[in-house]
Amino acid sequence: MKKVSILVIKDRHKRLLGLIRNNWLKLLCAMGCMLVVAASTATTAFLVKPVLDDIFFKKNAAMLKLIPVVVIIIYFVRGLSYYGQEYLMNYVGQSIIKRLRDSLYFHMQDLPISFFQKEKTGVLMSRVTNDVNIIKAMVSTAFTSALRDCFTILGLTVVIFYRDWKLALFAIVVLPVAFFPVVEFGKRVRRVSTGCQEAMADITSFLHETFIGNKIVKAFGMEAHEKERFFSMTGKLFGMEMKAVVIKALSSPIMEFLGGLGIAFIIGYGGYQVISGASTPGTFFSFMAAVLMLYDPVKKMSKLNNSIQEGLAATDRVFDIIERESDIIEHQSAVVIPQRPHRVTFENVFFRYDDAMVLRDININVKAGEILALVGMSGGGKTSLVNLIPRFYDAYDGRILIDGTDIRTATIRSLREQIAIVTQDSILFNDTIRYNIAYGKQGASIEDIEKAAKAAYAYDFICDFPDKFDTTIGELGGRLSGGEKQRICIARALLKNAPILILDEATSSLDTESEMWVQKALENLMKGRTTFVIAHRLSTIAYAHRIIVLSNGQIVEEGGHGELMDKQGKYFKLYQMQFCSNNNNS
Ligand SMILES: Nc1ncnc2c1ncn2[C@@H]1O[C@H](COP(=O)(O)OP(=O)(O)O)[C@@H](O)[C@H]1O
Ligand SMILES: [Mg+2]
Repeated sequence: MKKVSILVIKDRHKRLLGLIRNNWLKLLCAMGCMLVVAASTATTAFLVKPVLDDIFFKKNAAMLKLIPVVVIIIYFVRGLSYYGQEYLMNYVGQSIIKRLRDSLYFHMQDLPISFFQKEKTGVLMSRVTNDVNIIKAMVSTAFTSALRDCFTILGLTVVIFYRDWKLALFAIVVLPVAFFPVVEFGKRVRRVSTGCQEAMADITSFLHETFIGNKIVKAFGMEAHEKERFFSMTGKLFGMEMKAVVIKALSSPIMEFLGGLGIAFIIGYGGYQVISGASTPGTFFSFMAAVLMLYDPVKKMSKLNNSIQEGLAATDRVFDIIERESDIIEHQSAVVIPQRPHRVTFENVFFRYDDAMVLRDININVKAGEILALVGMSGGGKTSLVNLIPRFYDAYDGRILIDGTDIRTATIRSLREQIAIVTQDSILFNDTIRYNIAYGKQGASIEDIEKAAKAAYAYDFICDFPDKFDTTIGELGGRLSGGEKQRICIARALLKNAPILILDEATSSLDTESEMWVQKALENLMKGRTTFVIAHRLSTIAYAHRIIVLSNGQIVEEGGHGELMDKQGKYFKLYQMQFCSNNNNS
């Protein structure tokens, strides 16, 4: 079991590395630049000896002319290489991130509805934003700083061994001891920062809830209660943050103290060597400079593990989604459904989400242009039934046919082109009204858009906005009423001009007056289309040619309104219930 998981992870890393391959030339140049930067650092430490011994002690005039020039050249070349390395590495890093982000989003868009219903929106968003950023941090630290730091450490190590190999051996033993706390503190910081992130996530969702539901908070007089809850949440976050501060603030001084111990010893031992004449001050200071310069790259390398661990975890989360396969599969030899009026047939259809069967043995035949109403108590399976037609989900058993063609043998694109949907929650995108009406029909002429708006009874109110069809939905904020939004959605469906229409509680959330307008718009929309209409209020399905009553996922009654009323069965009961409650209301 464990072996398998290691294998998968390796594959994923290969894919991540595969993304880098396209940029290998840039990567190579960047490495060249890194080598130059590292070499310049080592050379600087190396130069301390000639500066001290030749210029200051021996007062060598030739060296006095030479060394400043060499220093200027070194720093100029170093600056150029540093820029080149940063630019090239970030170019590679950013382009990997772009490709990863794109392929993640492209893949998510192709996953079925069930995926979006199972996963939390916030989590999916953080996969595309946060997780990809964490991977970028890993790629850029692993390649940019890690390689440079490795080279620098190597170069400086050569210098310290060259200057005094015995002292160098000692330093090599002591330094890791000094850096041990860095690693230890790093682990703790990570644990606490995870806690901070969780506390912050709690606060975010709390804010979201209490802002959206602020009306209810006020109506129930719960302001003080919510303030108290918020107070305790920020208190928890404060505690966590301070813990992180303590760990971070302690780590530096402790490390520096340990480093200081080591340096004190080097000074003691090295100084003794100089005084006894075994070494020169130049050698000693060159050695010291190299050791001090080691501090920074070694510290960074010790943090590398953290960012790699975090990056790998994020890589796993991202690839978990990228590797997820859609269970709505298109046949290789899929046929294209032509655009014309269609007959829709359900043949012994069974359907389940995960556990219990939601639809059982559904048999329906809807003629082209027929309006079929689906009624029944909430939870009866009406939405699930219509969701099968555009293959938002696939039937568990049985077949759904459009003009005799099993929808699973058709291309998904041509299938969905046949279907227009208007649901209860009128979803509009934050763009212009024109864009929203023409959604799915890019390039529609303005005449067609206006015609659709008129037929949807939306033209007049749209023309009341200063920018008319170019008004953006965001600009309007909450100013569009439910009925107005719904009429824009109907215009969108009208413009799509699909032969099959699904109306799922399209008027249920509206008040009676806007319902009247939406109803009129819907009547225009339904003309000549094969329609599945789900309605909560039975009074709104008077025009249906046929009514099907669904109960617990089964068809329990079928027929015209009069016929079903005469039968005095389930439909009659539903009708009675609504009729009575309507009477009581008025
Ligand atoms: N995404 C889902 N995952 C699991 N169960 C679901 C899902 N959507 C609906 N259900 C369940 O399927 C049954 C039918 O729901 P639905 O088709 O929405 O009924 P209706 O539209 O008639 O109110 C209900 O028991 C509901 O809880
Ligand atoms: Mg429903």
